[in-house]
Amino acid sequence: MELRGAVVVVTGAGRGIGAATARALAARGAQVVVTGLDEAELSETAASIGAVPIVADVRDPAHAERVLAATTARFGPVDVVVANAGIGHAGTFAEMPPERIDDVIAVNVRGPMLLVRAALPPMLQRRSGALVFISSVAGTLHVPREAVYSASKAAVEGFAETLREELRGSGVTVTTIVPAVVATQFFDDRGEPYRRRFPRPVPAERIATAVARAIERDSPRVVVPPWFKLPLRIHDTMPRLYKALARRFS
Ligand SMILES: NC(=O)c1ccc[n+]([C@@H]2O[C@H](COP(=O)([O-])OP(=O)(O)OC[C@H]3O[C@@H](n4cnc5c(N)ncnc54)[C@H](OP(=O)(O)O)[C@@H]3O)[C@@H](O)[C@H]2O)c1
Repeated sequence: MELRGAVVVVTGAGRGIGAATARALAARGAQVVVTGLDEAELSETAASIGAVPIVADVRDPAHAERVLAATTARFGPVDVVVANAGIGHAGTFAEMPPERIDDVIAVNVRGPMLLVRAALPPMLQRRSGALVFISSVAGTLHVPREAVYSASKAAVEGFAETLREELRGSGVTVTTIVPAVVATQFFDDRGEPYRRRFPRPVPAERIATAVARAIERDSPRVVVPPWFKLPLRIHDTMPRLYKALARRFS
């Protein structure tokens, strides 16, 4: 898809990967609408790139319809949605507060599903559109002490893969971006800072560039950084070896 002039919605774009993605897409000439919770952050992102900010909570079931309607009224039909807003949670599952389980699922799973549900019918009518999901390697590698987060990203991967098949030939493309570790506020907010020396976090701009290229090239799945495809492949093809290595190095 040509990004120049494309109408794009990016959720969770006040900071981190979402903000970097909004900047990258705007730099390629897209008309961008950014959503998020924090009005000040969101306004800052929007002002720096001439985007339109909409303060909206993806946990709200009406969020998607509201954002899509406002975007369409302002710019015309939506060409691209980037389902980026996401939260983590670190700690043992036995101690995870039940309301936090609800939040992780509402933000990471139901949010993207409702966004796509609102965006898809007009895209199908026009036989054109791109759906982008920011997933995580945790969705495949199933990280201990991040059980619900890992399950939420596995759900996103399964949803995206199913949709990709369902929408084949419809003109609407589906992309999952699969980041490993990214230098954002994500880790502080999940309740545990990132302390490992390896793998080193990559800047959010790396993910943003991957999103832009994936839309332009209609890539189905992009792992960032690319070398992380190796542990993912070992996990899929030699699960016992993967588990032994993961236990040894974690
Ligand atoms: N950082 C990593 O290492 C990493 C790795 C793999 C995947 N990811 C994924 O990348 C995505 C972005 O994460 P990030 O690293 O950029 O984290 P981040 O800096 O914490 O940003 C998360 C964004 O999501 C928004 N958000 C959270 N809850 C929301 C809600 N209920 N409604 C609307 N927006 C909400 C936040 O908005 P406010 O600021 O307005 O609250 C924020 O802009 C997430 O889906 C995450 O799972 C991150």
